[in-house]
Amino acid sequence: MTNLLINIDHVATLRNARRETFPDPVHAAALCEIAGADGIVFHLREDRRHITDRDVRVLKETVNGKLDFELSMAEDIVQICCEVQPSLATLVPERREEITTEGGLDVRASRARLDIVIPRLYDAGIEEVALFVDPDLDQIEAAQEVGANCIELHTGDYANAPTQAAKQEVALRLARAAEKAHALGLHVHAGHGLDYTNYRFFAATVPHLAEVSIGFAVIARAVLVGMENAVREMRRVVKGY
Ligand code: PXP
Repeated sequence: MTNLLINIDHVATLRNARRETFPDPVHAAALCEIAGADGIVFHLREDRRHITDRDVRVLKETVNGKLDFELSMAEDIVQICCEVQPSLATLVPERREEITTEGGLDVRASRARLDIVIPRLYDAGIEEVALFVDPDLDQIEAAQEVGANCIELHTGDYANAPTQAAKQEVALRLARAAEKAHALGLHVHAGHGLDYTNYRFFAATVPHLAEVSIGFAVIARAVLVGMENAVREMRRVVKGY
């Protein structure tokens, strides 16, 4: 059964838009868990545009399920992640100009830094280390070589594909990437742009999905129908009940 993890960054984005203390992403995380989410995801960005250091500390104290800390390889962020010891650390590329994460890591080009960062995360007691990658078989081999035990497949191209035929083409690439990762002993996670309508075809095509990380679609729906309803609906889509 695929785990559903909810990314709560956009609750913090709304809070920060008015430099307020609400809505609190910590409260949102609690409601997600009450509604059946298997865990919570956040990205502590270098510019702190949404999640703050305070949020990270309180989420660590209050989240009961899995906690996925998305991070770049910047030294101060890696240090915070090691102190917080989430269940899962997901390394992502980060550019200040981007609106959201735009693509997967170039694992081969980042090898020197990954060789330092990944052992530090494990040494800190973090059990799962994922690399966010595009569905590129060479990147997946490289992820295994540098010692990650999970990959998160970037599903943005699938979500953005304009036609069903185009979606199918990307989904088949994702499926081959998932097969390869599984054969190499890596856990397969996926995320970016997954939503209430594009999820089912994706999950029917891509095997070995241990975990999906879904943010924008759920938080956007929660604004209209409430967090618990939005999470329950997504849970039904992901788990079929
Ligand atoms: N996974 C990663 C690595 C991400 O950067 C994001 C976006 O924050 C997500 C998953 C979730 O994407 P979305 O908000 O589009 O569901």
